[in-house]
Amino acid sequence: MPLIPIHTPRLILRQWQESDYESYIAMNIDAEVMRYFPALQTREDSLAQILRLKTFIEGNGYGFFAVERKDTREFIGFTGLAQPRFESFFTPCIEIGWRLARAHWGMGFAQEAAIACLNMGFNDLELKEIYSFTSLLNIPSINVMKKIGMKEVRQFEHPNIPDGDKLKTHILYKIERKDGK
Ligand SMILES: CC(C)(COP(=O)(O)OP(=O)(O)OC[C@H]1O[C@@H](n2cnc3c(N)ncnc32)[C@H](O)[C@@H]1OP(=O)(O)O)[C@@H](O)C(=O)NCCC(=O)NCCS
Repeated sequence: MPLIPIHTPRLILRQWQESDYESYIAMNIDAEVMRYFPALQTREDSLAQILRLKTFIEGNGYGFFAVERKDTREFIGFTGLAQPRFESFFTPCIEIGWRLARAHWGMGFAQEAAIACLNMGFNDLELKEIYSFTSLLNIPSINVMKKIGMKEVRQFEHPNIPDGDKLKTHILYKIERKDGK
């Protein structure tokens, strides 16, 4: 059974399509969206990333899904599950992550998409636990983690960020499958 598209009250989580590309490139050169990342993403970076995300979804059924608003049919960013590619005390694991274009912040869309992804992870993928992490400075993202019921584990130093960089210290959150789910 394919896991996507997933319908929530206001959103569709689906495979990436060509009409998403220019919007995704634009959000990744928005300094506010990329404030807690080491750098903006070039057009080539974004296109290569989309290809990786699409291929991962094709191969695994889950991934970082494109998110579309039902009311306007706009592509607004991604939310989904992935396997972090760095080594740390909590990897290998499955993480939940999100990135939305600025025009679509403050409406609860990240939480709505994230809850659908947690349900998919626990009910369809039968995961026991799902992690999320971000720079300690990224309060909007930490707020999403809290609002969807994740609990703080602890801080850690991200191995791919240089020592001394203000984004180096990260915070890890986790949510476990409830009994009987
Ligand atoms: C992280 C990010 C997705 C959070 O977006 P967001 O819109 O703030 O998150 P939510 O979906 O939880 O929305 C919460 C806000 O919507 C408001 N809201 C409005 N309608 C709502 C509804 N129906 N349900 C829930 N919240 C609603 C809430 O009050 C809250 O606003 P506030 O922060 O002013 O109190 C966004 O800031 C982002 O894309 N950042 C850049 C990328 C990034 O850093 N990603 C994480 C990297 S690890």
